[in-house]
Amino acid sequence: MRITFNKDLSALNTFRMKVRAAAFAEYSGLEGLRAILSMPGLPRPLLHIGGGSNLLFSGDFKGTVLHSAVKGILFIDNGTPEVLARVGAGESFDGFCALAASKGLWGTENLSLIPGEAGAAAVQNIGAYGVEIKDVLESVEAYDTVSGEMVTLGCEDCRYAYRDSVFKNEAKGRYIILYVTFKLSRDYSPRLSYGHVEAAVREVCGSGTLTPMMVRDAIVGIRKTKLPAVEETGSAGSFFRNPFVSREQYEAIASRYEKVPHFINPDGTVKIPAAWLIEQCGLKGYSEGNAAVYHKQPLVIVNATGEATPDEILSLEQKVIDSVWNRFSIRLSPEVEHI
Ligand code: EPU
Repeated sequence: MRITFNKDLSALNTFRMKVRAAAFAEYSGLEGLRAILSMPGLPRPLLHIGGGSNLLFSGDFKGTVLHSAVKGILFIDNGTPEVLARVGAGESFDGFCALAASKGLWGTENLSLIPGEAGAAAVQNIGAYGVEIKDVLESVEAYDTVSGEMVTLGCEDCRYAYRDSVFKNEAKGRYIILYVTFKLSRDYSPRLSYGHVEAAVREVCGSGTLTPMMVRDAIVGIRKTKLPAVEETGSAGSFFRNPFVSREQYEAIASRYEKVPHFINPDGTVKIPAAWLIEQCGLKGYSEGNAAVYHKQPLVIVNATGEATPDEILSLEQKVIDSVWNRFSIRLSPEVEHI
């Protein structure tokens, strides 16, 4: 367990906001976590972060930022096609994806190169290229701050939805995830139906049998052409959620534009890519001061110069929301968590 006061958070958020926290506390197991939580005088509130890749600090944080350094990846192989992997919440999620692919295990290859850590991945129900965490999650082991005990939550208990879970709603702040168990498979099961994934994979690998590593490499290739590398350009990935609209609203938009990309949800609502809406507003590549709408993927707001302030990002966010509202009467909601 380690506590630092007046901590500089600039290396701990991928937006690279130069902000500080009154305290920063890191633990590597249950004992350390309990010690932190029972420490008298620790600045409050508490904010648990993962890789800091999906949040925007609007200024200095007056409480304590908690971070998991719970490590370890254990593969549980019972000799069946299904292999479980128990992953410490503080492990790099992509490091785990790479390891699983290198062992020839299917399941997380489409989620390759998403920044962040395993615990946060399970909170956020991260998803990409047709796969979400909920599709590969067996259970989470979490400390219940109400009962003071460890609990195991199955996938159903986590109430996953698009970029959403129980950890972001009813149980916000209640559970602290220590381990996530994923279910992977030895059985040949590539998932290539999203967008250009199949074409990208086949271009590199031809028409033969694939391995999880081949699909991972193709996904990494796609992400690198579309999304900014967080090591080079500050961002938090997709800044907005893709909005769901009614069938009527979609039809109204479709009557005004030649080709509206869309996906029909099982409940009949229609998902329209926020990237398309933002692009139609002429904002792809638009910049204001040090903040910009990313020129290759307008769903992403970037800290273009490395010097952007929280206010500059927030003002650009508002500009995007207002522009999309004025043109389409669709209210975009941020995917990034505002602190
Ligand atoms: N599009 C445009 N202009 C662009 C880019 C995209 O019009 O410049 C339209 C196209 O019609 C394209 C569609 O948007 O077909 C979808 O684009 P893309 O496949 O890049 O996906 P997205 O909906 O913009 C979502 C996730 C990403 C994830 C990709 C791939 C959300 C909020 N974002 O983006 O997740 O990588 O799908 O699965 O759902 C993240 O969460 O940080 C993230 C990057």
